[in-house]
Amino acid sequence: MRVLVLGGTGSVGGPVVRAIVKRGHEVLALARSAASAQKVVAFGAQPVPGNIRRPEEWLQALPAVDAVIHAACEFEDAMEGIERHLLGHLLPHLAASERNPRFIYTGGCWLFGATGDQVATEATPFRALPAFAWAVPPIKRVLETAGIQPTVIHPAMVYAAGGGVFSSFARDSIERRAIRIVGNENVRWPLVHSDDLASLYALVLERGVARESYIGSAIDGFPVGRIARAFAKRSGAVDRDLQIISADAIAAELGDWARGYALDQQASGEKARLTLGWDPKHLDPESDIAAIN
Ligand SMILES: NC(=O)c1ccc[n+]([C@@H]2O[C@H](COP(=O)([O-])OP(=O)(O)OC[C@H]3O[C@@H](n4cnc5c(N)ncnc54)[C@H](OP(=O)(O)O)[C@@H]3O)[C@@H](O)[C@H]2O)c1
Repeated sequence: MRVLVLGGTGSVGGPVVRAIVKRGHEVLALARSAASAQKVVAFGAQPVPGNIRRPEEWLQALPAVDAVIHAACEFEDAMEGIERHLLGHLLPHLAASERNPRFIYTGGCWLFGATGDQVATEATPFRALPAFAWAVPPIKRVLETAGIQPTVIHPAMVYAAGGGVFSSFARDSIERRAIRIVGNENVRWPLVHSDDLASLYALVLERGVARESYIGSAIDGFPVGRIARAFAKRSGAVDRDLQIISADAIAAELGDWARGYALDQQASGEKARLTLGWDPKHLDPESDIAAIN
């Protein structure tokens, strides 16, 4: 298939580009800068110069595609308007194509809010934090668009060995600062390794059912304190080197969206496992952390 990826240099989209290139698809990736273009070329894809803020500048010249994977995002207040404008151009463009293209849209586990001891599934109603409430209407819009085959993937918290949502723990441990935890040690995060998540996108691309959603969670809920302790152990630090900070403090530092780090959540990837044969390999984040060089 010829596939356009938006966000093909990101934590989610980068591994997706590499995975689908490897599976033999022809991959185009939107690149808003020369540096981003260089990255997508290194991943084996063809850069399409352009910005999600201005789809009218690159859509008309885009060759016909069989699928679009959208995993681009700016973590700022303007995102609601950016997304509305982007979808306002992109969806009609795709719906007008004779190829009946697939459109794989990225939601996120934070849209389900705190679940505590419940485990979110695709049937769980959204209870998004205020900073993410804007992201719910586009999901409905995408799933209801005629003339395309839309699917939504809700990634769990995405990690790579020392990266993704583990970056701040890794940075704190390298700099030998106290490793910071938002909320408390028992806060659970649903987790997925970026390579496993990329496999899910590839499966949805190749055999996902239109108008369905899939939660990309390999580990339903993992206590954040254990992640922090694993990094502390690696760096030779001791338990007292963990530092609890409040959701208000992290929001003041990074923006309101960062309150999501304090959500005690569990989410299940069972639907993707059962219906698509998704088989995530990374099920032990502590071993992944211990194995970092
Ligand atoms: N990471 C997670 O744990 C996680 C979990 C659940 C859901 N999600 C969702 O997944 C999506 C992607 O998140 P992420 O973590 O992969 O973000 P990320 O690492 O910050 O990547 C964002 C991507 O979007 C691109 N981008 C940003 N603004 C752009 C613009 N104006 N024009 C063109 N491209 C632009 C970036 O390209 P550049 O290279 O040019 O910067 C990059 O490829 C988001 O919707 C997020 O909410 C992420």
